[in-house]
Amino acid sequence: MKLEICKWPQPVLAEKAKAIEEITPELQELIENMIETMYEDEGVGLAAPQVGESIRLICVDQTGPKERGDLMVMINPEITSCEGQVDSEEGCLSCPEFTGKVKRSQKISVKALDREGKEICMEVEDYLAIILQHEIDHLDGVTIVDRSSNLKKAMYRKKAKKWA
Ligand code: NI
Repeated sequence: MKLEICKWPQPVLAEKAKAIEEITPELQELIENMIETMYEDEGVGLAAPQVGESIRLICVDQTGPKERGDLMVMINPEITSCEGQVDSEEGCLSCPEFTGKVKRSQKISVKALDREGKEICMEVEDYLAIILQHEIDHLDGVTIVDRSSNLKKAMYRKKAKKWA
């Protein structure tokens, strides 16, 4: 089932999401629905707060939106180390009509659980590293709008009245 995307400045997008303590059938259903939503809305990543669930869960597919070749689901993802810095031009399904330049690490190590609860550790760089940082930001209540200048944020606040 495709889910509705919460749009900035809805409060759920600004909350710090809670760690997941148990992998339940309900959680698996949410994961399925998030994957469907990410693909249908042509995103390369989606975090649970974007569908109104303030829990630490993300899905990403760096081959999207044209392909569906590298799906990853991460529960309680954590960045354990980072290096380098890149400027990244980003958009977000929760921030329609907004793009912003964001500073990201070029390379990160991530620790998480997969959807079966198995621990995964990986070192990723460039595009995938950027997507993961963007999605993990969502779990900490941070969007690309929050990472932009006060002026840009104020202008976007006016625009966002259209869907508030
Ligand atoms: Ni986003």
